[in-house]
Amino acid sequence: MARKLWAKRGLAALATGTMAISLAACGGSGAGAGGGDAAGDGEEGGLVGVAMPTETSERWIADGAAVEEGLEAAGYEVDLQFAGDKIPTQQQQIDAMISAGAKALIVAAIDGTTLTGQLEAAAAEGIPVISYDRLIRDSEDVNFYVSFDNFAVGVAQANALLNGLGLVDENGEPAEDAPEGPFNVELFAGSLDDNNAHFFWDGAMSVLEPLIDDGTLVVPSEQTDIDQAATQRWLQENAQKRMENLLTAHYDGSDKVDGVLSPYDGLSRGIIEALRSDGYEDDAMPVITGQDAEIASVKLIADGVQNSTIFKDTRLLADQAVTAAEDLLAGEEPEANNTEDYDNGVKVVPSYLLPVSTIYADNIESELVDSEYWTAEEVESGVAEGE
Ligand code: BGC
Repeated sequence: MARKLWAKRGLAALATGTMAISLAACGGSGAGAGGGDAAGDGEEGGLVGVAMPTETSERWIADGAAVEEGLEAAGYEVDLQFAGDKIPTQQQQIDAMISAGAKALIVAAIDGTTLTGQLEAAAAEGIPVISYDRLIRDSEDVNFYVSFDNFAVGVAQANALLNGLGLVDENGEPAEDAPEGPFNVELFAGSLDDNNAHFFWDGAMSVLEPLIDDGTLVVPSEQTDIDQAATQRWLQENAQKRMENLLTAHYDGSDKVDGVLSPYDGLSRGIIEALRSDGYEDDAMPVITGQDAEIASVKLIADGVQNSTIFKDTRLLADQAVTAAEDLLAGEEPEANNTEDYDNGVKVVPSYLLPVSTIYADNIESELVDSEYWTAEEVESGVAEGE
């Protein structure tokens, strides 16, 4: 994706930056009037710290690069850091950003509950904090949240699972001539310390639970609580191990898995590995869902191995974060489209949530290639350009 993606993002960001500057020019009110003089101290921009959780997943690399490019195009200096999924590393990185004089922070937390101290320090310096995609919990000092509609992600994953089983159509409506079942399914959740994991799970279970209750879906492991289904740190190997254990403990030669609810492509690939080791052929895999449209999984979808993924356009999220940073630095409230659902334990954080879409083999081209998220060559090879 890389080059094309950044190039396109750069243009969008440039447009945002230009708009901020021309608005400031119209308003003509000097300090705090717009992104061009964000610090209000007569200097261009200023430093913005961007803290991302990990580089083990493509999406965070793309997010980091897109936010960096957007901020730079809007006239800011950027300190972009990845924390290798280590909480103390992320804490230190944010401490260092504050010491270096960051004017704003954009943070995608590893564990949403562990940044209270950092956010207190930021607040003491008057530094606004934007929680990026994952809600930072237990802190008064989160100014704004940008993300996708995370409940809708879970609903879409559950509908994709049911669609793959022939129970609903692509809009989630009951399918004509739906098979009666019952179908054997297993359920996976994300990392419990990530607020999103709970939204994804709740969204999915709002669709699946009635079908589990009426016997259309059977969960042979009986592991239907998020605590049992969780995958620490969202790691592929943890999902693979759990799937191996489920297959050994709950499926004998005659029982087959028909579907797996997986909330993230990395987990889906671990689940597929476990199934392959157990003798499942690629052309007879259970219906397996996903999230993030990672290129290796997009190829698995094109090849008919994985059923689907949820596409969240990180370029749009990065734009939203940059816009929110510019607003906060101009002393304005960013525009929110949700002021109810994201209670971080201390307060409801005003949020901007973006829509998501479901990718199946038949819309990879229209959704991912035409929008230049991935090139046709990347989908063909399953590898991102430049990797
Ligand atoms: C993000 C997902 C991602 C997951 C694992 C979540 O917080 O919203 O897009 O799949 O983390 O990285």
